[in-house]
Amino acid sequence: MKTSAIRPIAFEGGRLFVLDQTLLPGEERHIELKSVEDVREAIRSLRVRGAPAIGLAAAYGVCLAARASRARDVEGFCRELSEARERLAGSRPTAVNLFQALGRMVARLSRLAEGAGGGGWADMFERLNEGLLLEAESIRAEGEAACLAMGELGLGLLKPGMGLLTHCNAGALAAPGIGTALAPVYLGQERGYGFRVFADETRPLLQGARLTAWELMRAGVDVTLICDGMAAAAMREGLVDAVLTGCDRLARNGDGANKIGTAGLAALAKAYGLPFYMFVPTSTIDMAAATGGDIPIELRDGGEICELWYGRRMAPEGVKTWNPAFDVTEHGLITAIVTEKGVARPPFDRGIAELMGAG
Ligand code: MRU
Repeated sequence: MKTSAIRPIAFEGGRLFVLDQTLLPGEERHIELKSVEDVREAIRSLRVRGAPAIGLAAAYGVCLAARASRARDVEGFCRELSEARERLAGSRPTAVNLFQALGRMVARLSRLAEGAGGGGWADMFERLNEGLLLEAESIRAEGEAACLAMGELGLGLLKPGMGLLTHCNAGALAAPGIGTALAPVYLGQERGYGFRVFADETRPLLQGARLTAWELMRAGVDVTLICDGMAAAAMREGLVDAVLTGCDRLARNGDGANKIGTAGLAALAKAYGLPFYMFVPTSTIDMAAATGGDIPIELRDGGEICELWYGRRMAPEGVKTWNPAFDVTEHGLITAIVTEKGVARPPFDRGIAELMGAG
């Protein structure tokens, strides 16, 4: 599959590299992140982005902190890593994968520290580092497998020749593997489904234009870029048969936060009688959030609306802005939630509880 050439995150020989997504599509450059602060900055500035990818980058950030540790004993090591965890957790608030991955790293560290046993500090230091890297690699492997499984399940909901509307970027750039919402598109491409994908540009940061269009074109998928405000027209024209999006955090009642603009698309899909499918690996489900109201929504700088991607400023100096990066799609607007463990349909609270309890 051509997407395998896209590696948004690589950890090789103890060094962490990410594909700098702020430079795409013009430039394909992998940059090295050398410290926890580098990883925090890369997540904040969306050099690495997309819920599963953010989680994986943070896990490797913990590995970087572990390798750089100057501690002389387990207690000092755990203290340093706890500080690293705090710094990484403060990078972005909405994607729960960040906290889920950091939680896994901390839990692994506790188990390793408890079972550290005898031997000198140098040996123990090696064992702790190896164990943490193994945990990060499991997060990667599980993420890749989840994407494949969601791809198969998602493909089962679609028919050859369909027009598919997607928002933001939930593809190979956003996750280890073939992505979440774009996973069925990649599998369909291999199997001759002939999908026609419509990519919302995704204001204000243009993940659809810069990233989704780039990665789908690279894989030879038939993709058409539209402005966010054109979705209703595309639906009315009969160009769209289903809407596929990713998710940054799903509450246990099925409300899902995703890139700003997703909720509007879901409402449009309902108005036009089209299915709206949200692709949500279980690592993106937050069982502690009862509803979408419990999901923290990131507010970003208004400069992203006024000037970031323009040659010159496009709004009056001093204009007030409101720039939430995500919105919550209420569960009543979602047709089905695709996870790697199965497809949940309404009532979602029951379906999600079953999936989360299963295996
Ligand atoms: O702000 P971003 O680019 O990190 O937002 C990403 C999204 O909204 C994706 O749809 C979501 O993370 C799912 S990615 C598999």
